[in-house]
Amino acid sequence: MNHLPFDTTAIAPMNADETGAAIANVIAQVRRNLTDFTHASQNHSSVNNIYPAVANDQWTAGFWPGSIWLAFEATGDADFRDAAQIQVQSLLHRIENRIATDHHDMGFMYSPSCVAAWKLLGDGDGRKAGLLAADQLVERFHEKGAFIQAWGAKGAPENYRFIIDCLLNLPLLYWASDETGNDQYRDLARRHMATSLRYSVRPDFSTYHTFYMDPETGDPVRGSTQQGFSDDSSWARGQAWAIAGTAFLYRLDPTPALLEVFDNLLAYYLARLPADLVPYWDLIFTSGDEPRDSSSAAVVACGLLEMAGLTTPKRATTLRGLAARMLASLSRSYAVTDPQASNGFLLHATYSKKTPFNGCRGEGVDECVAWGDYFYFEGLTRLSRTWTPYW
Ligand code: GLY
Repeated sequence: MNHLPFDTTAIAPMNADETGAAIANVIAQVRRNLTDFTHASQNHSSVNNIYPAVANDQWTAGFWPGSIWLAFEATGDADFRDAAQIQVQSLLHRIENRIATDHHDMGFMYSPSCVAAWKLLGDGDGRKAGLLAADQLVERFHEKGAFIQAWGAKGAPENYRFIIDCLLNLPLLYWASDETGNDQYRDLARRHMATSLRYSVRPDFSTYHTFYMDPETGDPVRGSTQQGFSDDSSWARGQAWAIAGTAFLYRLDPTPALLEVFDNLLAYYLARLPADLVPYWDLIFTSGDEPRDSSSAAVVACGLLEMAGLTTPKRATTLRGLAARMLASLSRSYAVTDPQASNGFLLHATYSKKTPFNGCRGEGVDECVAWGDYFYFEGLTRLSRTWTPYW
């Protein structure tokens, strides 16, 4: 990595004791939440820092079970295992009956929950659910344009687009190929990845959130935003998904091009961070009082720690050091300390902030979000020990 733009010493990295204490806090919060969320899902984001319980019909339904699995791995406690397996059954039912699955978020939903159950316990229902989800993802692939359609009915002209977030859905397809011996899953993942990186990543290595293709010709049409500030800004979480996505995919597909784009995406992101290493919700903002997105910092930390395990010792030290500072900032200034005030792990995330230029309704602004909590816990886990990813 040639071009880290700064060497911040403002935030001291977490040491082992601090990491252990942060993990213990999160595990205690998972334990408290079992009462409300063993037989229900968590909403995608909190309301006044409290997650409501909801039916299993959101794209985020895999993150809470993922957090329970991380707690199970850390403790071996059968209460966690049993609760996570109830969530796995719910997700199996959902994919078998195609309940609210008209979108591409199968990896987000099934990797940290059902694939994790298979990897950790050899849970056959977890494997079955993961493979059904991978099949659903394959169905959303368009030959014209070579991409997986993000949202809505397949082929609808107004939805003929992909989004940068989908990089995190692709590990499910690599896993499905490994499990079944059928190369089609991996081949489609590679083709989507190539399309996404070719068109979503701008020349300055910022990213478009979404990108439209021409349904007649398969040619690129235009980048646009859904959740970012505007079409030509770089939504912080989109950039975070791109950084973590390229790192996770580099483990599965170690091509030099992925490494190069990871470095450049990261450089763009780092150059726009405020001093506490937690971005504003869109990278167009580098100071002021716009809301932060703590979840982006957690996602990026996981990407850095993933790449640290795949690179030279010198580079790994740099990446781990950065991740340890980001997680330190989250733990010291963003983590929930009072369980009466919040049933989440990480405060000050932004799900979708409405602007005159985007497609948001405005939800989950300055709240906890399900993936922020999950990736914070995953990041702490990765920092504390060698961890086998669910992805
Ligand atoms: N994948 C949707 C989001 O990050 O909000």
